[in-house]
Amino acid sequence: MSHVVAIKDQVEAAVRAALTEVLPAELAGTDPVVRRSDRADFQANGPLAVAKRVGRAPRDLATATADRLGGSVAEAKAEGVANAAVTAEVSGPGFLNLTVPAATLWRQVAARLADESLGIATTHDGERTVIDYSAPNVAKEMHVGHLRSTIIGDTLARVLAHLGATVIRQNHVGDWGTQFGMLIQFIDEHPEQTWQGEASMSALDALYRAARAAFDTDPGFADRARARVVLLQSGDEATLSTWRELVAESEAAFQAVYDRLGILLTPADADGESRYNADLPGVVDELVAQGIAVDSDGALCAFTDGVVGPDGDPVPLIVRKKDGGFGYAATDLATVRLRVEEYHATRILYVVDARQALHFRMVFDVARRAGWLPDDVAATHVPFGTVLGADGKPFKTRDGGTVRLDDLLDQAVERARAELAEKDHGLTPEEFERVAQAAGIGAVKYADLSNTRTKDYVFDVDRMVALNGNTGVYLQYAYARVRSILRKAADAGVRLGRPVDPTLPLHPAERALALTLDELAATLDDVAVTLEPHRLAGYLFDLARAYTEFYDRCPVLRADDDAVRAGRLALCELTGRTLATGLDLLGLAAPDRM
Ligand code: ARG
Repeated sequence: MSHVVAIKDQVEAAVRAALTEVLPAELAGTDPVVRRSDRADFQANGPLAVAKRVGRAPRDLATATADRLGGSVAEAKAEGVANAAVTAEVSGPGFLNLTVPAATLWRQVAARLADESLGIATTHDGERTVIDYSAPNVAKEMHVGHLRSTIIGDTLARVLAHLGATVIRQNHVGDWGTQFGMLIQFIDEHPEQTWQGEASMSALDALYRAARAAFDTDPGFADRARARVVLLQSGDEATLSTWRELVAESEAAFQAVYDRLGILLTPADADGESRYNADLPGVVDELVAQGIAVDSDGALCAFTDGVVGPDGDPVPLIVRKKDGGFGYAATDLATVRLRVEEYHATRILYVVDARQALHFRMVFDVARRAGWLPDDVAATHVPFGTVLGADGKPFKTRDGGTVRLDDLLDQAVERARAELAEKDHGLTPEEFERVAQAAGIGAVKYADLSNTRTKDYVFDVDRMVALNGNTGVYLQYAYARVRSILRKAADAGVRLGRPVDPTLPLHPAERALALTLDELAATLDDVAVTLEPHRLAGYLFDLARAYTEFYDRCPVLRADDDAVRAGRLALCELTGRTLATGLDLLGLAAPDRM
């Protein structure tokens, strides 16, 4: 693996050096503010931005920088540095329009192609990142909130691991709490109720609803259920054994969903709430001993400076309830402690919906004060918005129930099937079915990932599976098209992987594609810092569009001569590998034919 320096970084370094030479010493290293541009390859706004501070006319300073840039290019060339060249032109009030020579771009394409990992640096090497995601609840149907956490968390896990971090996935399943008393008691009293055997979440969900109804309407049952909670907590073997079966049954059902969705989570990533039971008294005792948790109306609570409710009263983080039970807050404090002490995490991400922002703000604050979360460990809540129905309200079934995930995926696959059937695809029925699954499921995942994480979005299956627009299907198609060209080339006996002639001129569409291909590494770094997968989605969409433009304008197999064809095939190959990497990091399948 060898790391390839992005063209943009090379250009930025060259302009920074030139700008430094024309600025007073104290402004050395000023940001040249280099961006992609419509008028040239890049534009530098740094000279314009800094001119006022040194009392110079912006165009003057820009011209001096451009001259210096020419000078350093000449020097670099004399020293045999090939990639230093960039031509600069002053424009408008004092921008620099920057153009990279064709040879630099061709060499860059070849360098990325020559590296197995496309020249992407492992910028997160040595980091140990715990990602808490998915976290559905035992005996309850996974809802769309869990779907978002699952999809977003999985992409972050993939991207960070790709950049060299050691990723520790944690599925903090809701497997403990008073509801289990009710469930287990109900199972005992209703041996006729079936809920085992098919890893079927709906059977468990039906059990849950029946138990809940009995609890709400039959006071005798409610009393017996409460007594069961006590038995469960005191470790009664018969009660525990039914609890274990419930957990196992749910986990099998969750695993079926993960497998269908192509999610990395496995049973080894399970980190159920129950895992922390034995830790909770210690967590609370330590908080009391440190004076962080105090008695408030019989409950033990911690407070965070500045966190007040609408009435101006401080908001409590309840670590032990009035009845002596431990809640969600105590468990989450225990997760922080374990993740630091046992997993030696350097970064902990909690991918949980935005409504829990305050909970995590307080948990992290308390954990820091308690000394469980050292300053060099970053704990971050990664919030996300709500999935909405067509009516703009939280996504529900027509009768207001939770939308079953399997139904939702079935629906997407069915629409994808209809959409794809219209194309002349030439696939066998089995291949077609595999592609429809990949397209339908990919559509749901991509729709989620391509939206700004913190925003709500409307779940609209028709839009998700469209062949045109910013959809997963569009990207999968772009990939399949690349594969098809490469296949045709091979069939025609054209040799792939031929060295590219750097003296070839570049068509504008080739240039735009080459520049876009060079941006994957920076995009991934950006996702790793911002934790925003839509940046990768947007990048892949731009890439697919740049490829489409190139494909429309630059004949590949019917190119005029061998050298031109070899250059274009290299661009096709790099596009294919870049799209494949990107789709894989988004967790989308990339079929070879569609
Ligand atoms: N099981 C919880 C729910 O369904 C989500 C847990 C999120 N993770 C955490 N460490 N609190 O809402």
